[in-house]
Amino acid sequence: MSGLLEVEGVSRRLADPQPVVLVRDVSLRVDRGEFVAIIGPSGCGKSSLLYLLGLLDRPTTGSVRIEGRATEALSETERTRLRLRHIGFVFQFHFLLPELTALANVALPMRRAGLDGREAEERARALLAKLGIEAEGGKRPDRMSGGQRQRVAIARALANDPALILGDEPTGNLDSANSARVVEEFRRLAHEERRAVVCVTHDMEVAAAADRRVHMVDGRIEGED
Ligand SMILES: Nc1ncnc2c1ncn2[C@@H]1O[C@H](COP(=O)(O)OP(=O)(O)OP(=O)(O)O)[C@@H](O)[C@H]1O
Ligand SMILES: [Mg+2]
Repeated sequence: MSGLLEVEGVSRRLADPQPVVLVRDVSLRVDRGEFVAIIGPSGCGKSSLLYLLGLLDRPTTGSVRIEGRATEALSETERTRLRLRHIGFVFQFHFLLPELTALANVALPMRRAGLDGREAEERARALLAKLGIEAEGGKRPDRMSGGQRQRVAIARALANDPALILGDEPTGNLDSANSARVVEEFRRLAHEERRAVVCVTHDMEVAAAADRRVHMVDGRIEGED
């Protein structure tokens, strides 16, 4: 059976202004039910790899398959659609829209995927409740704590019920109590909801909570434990 995410011999090179190799011949498979951490020194290519997994960037060589579907030959529109419906992102900086309430931020990807306003709002409310921040729904991000904002960002990542959740230092701006909540949520999303979670992190507590730790050095995967 094919994995949820299958990466085969992926490299990413830049030609300008000088040649750089961001990712070197990476192969990786992640199945539903798994929480995988990607760790390694600053500058080793973790974010670059995550952008390739999330179809935010295209590899120079190699292939990224999502739910058995090859993504290389897809147009940008098709990749955007695949991303919208199958992948949720949680970054270090929440990237919530400052002028929208928490509820509207979470509903936005649903509207983009074609859900009508009422249904989107109901679903967004349910997601906020699931993350324990129902009471914050009417607030704009600048009126919330950092931990609350990051939970809104997770709710938004789940908007269209994606099978794959990608995190890039999602606990980078949080204190240890809020980090622990995010980690617990990631574990639950993988183990109970049977999604796949791939998370780039420097945080040893996040790494320790993952099922697998993929070690990157100088653009390549050195091994895992
Ligand atoms: N657009 C770019 N042009 C040139 N070099 C780049 C570009 N993007 C990334 N790099 C370089 O590629 C390497 C990998 O960057 P990347 O952001 O993937 O590292 P990282 O492992 O995520 O680091 P950190 O832990 O600090 O976030 C770095 O040496 C970086 O300087
Ligand atoms: Mg990075």
